Amino acid sequence: MKILVTGACGYKGHVLVPKLLKRGYQVVAFDLQWFGNFLAPHQNLTVVKGDVRDIDTIPLEGVDCIIHLSSIANDPCGDLNPKLTWEVSALATMQLADRAKRMGIKRFIYASSGSVYGVKEEPQVTEDLELKPISEYNKTKMVGERVLLSYQDDMVVQIVRPATVCGYSPRMRLDVSVNLLTMQALSKGKITVFGGDQVRPNIHIDDITDVYLHLIDHPEVTGVYNAGFENISIKDIARLVTKFIPVEIAVTESNDPRSYRINSDKLLATGYKPKKTVEDAIREIIEQHHGGILKDEDHFYNLRWMEKTVLAKVV
Ligand SMILES: NC(=O)c1ccc[n+]([C@@H]2O[C@H](COP(=O)([O-])OP(=O)(O)OC[C@H]3O[C@@H](n4cnc5c(N)ncnc54)[C@H](O)[C@@H]3O)[C@@H](O)[C@H]2O)c1
Repeated sequence: MKILVTGACGYKGHVLVPKLLKRGYQVVAFDLQWFGNFLAPHQNLTVVKGDVRDIDTIPLEGVDCIIHLSSIANDPCGDLNPKLTWEVSALATMQLADRAKRMGIKRFIYASSGSVYGVKEEPQVTEDLELKPISEYNKTKMVGERVLLSYQDDMVVQIVRPATVCGYSPRMRLDVSVNLLTMQALSKGKITVFGGDQVRPNIHIDDITDVYLHLIDHPEVTGVYNAGFENISIKDIARLVTKFIPVEIAVTESNDPRSYRINSDKLLATGYKPKKTVEDAIREIIEQHHGGILKDEDHFYNLRWMEKTVLAKVV
């Protein structure tokens, strides 16, 4: 099978691509490489540096399956430049789906986001609830989903709404809650939480990448699936970190109202089982840091890095 992964040089891509190669697939990693490229060379891997907005430059020849990960991947980055966000995350998704259909590609897996729900009081947020996305990022994900669902008669469309991902990746993200709080404890000796009562679902990076493998194995599993297994408040994540690194937790005011718990029973009913926990993620990050492999670096923070480098060049 030949698989095109957009955004392959991102946080998830750096864990997913080696798993795809291990299975013997041919992989085309298409990415602008905003945060670099640490993918190890492999005989079945072709890395293409390119922009999904330049739709004709995406090498789709012979591709059987697209895993579409590229986007401006969080709320503050999306707000930096809404035009760029809509072009990359929504418009390019539509153009990619359209081109895939014209080329007869039959499989399309899309990384949406659990944040499309917005603020929800319901204890069980299931896929059928109304979407009330708040940020530009969340809105583009909702529209991307709707666009792809309109191609369901042409190809197998599998949409995942992942929780916030945690755990170590060679292209690390330290701007996602578990990773951020763990690194604060490690490098600052103190954790600062904003508000802290907001509940967020979490998923380990090994588990979310396994969800994509599961979907490849199960083309009959179509439509939209939540993927998140531990709904925990930010304060409780901070407390979990202090089990391993005993530091002070400071609480300050927050202007981020997003609070939601997702229910992933629909995904579990397809036979998928998560294997790891938030505690595993914390432990693994600490190990990588103590081993000198993971450092607190600017390019691991999407907003900081985009403000500093990317935005001036690409807009
Ligand atoms: N990490 C999470 O917690 C999380 C949670 C829910 C959903 N998601 C979604 O999963 C996907 C992957 O997330 P991630 O954490 O790996 O993000 P990431 O920011 O690490 O990776 C995104 C990648 O997309 C690339 N990219 C951005 N614009 C591009 C363009 N115009 N053309 C080509 N490449 C481009 C970037 O260079 C980057 O390597 C994203 O769509 C994100 O919205 C992530």
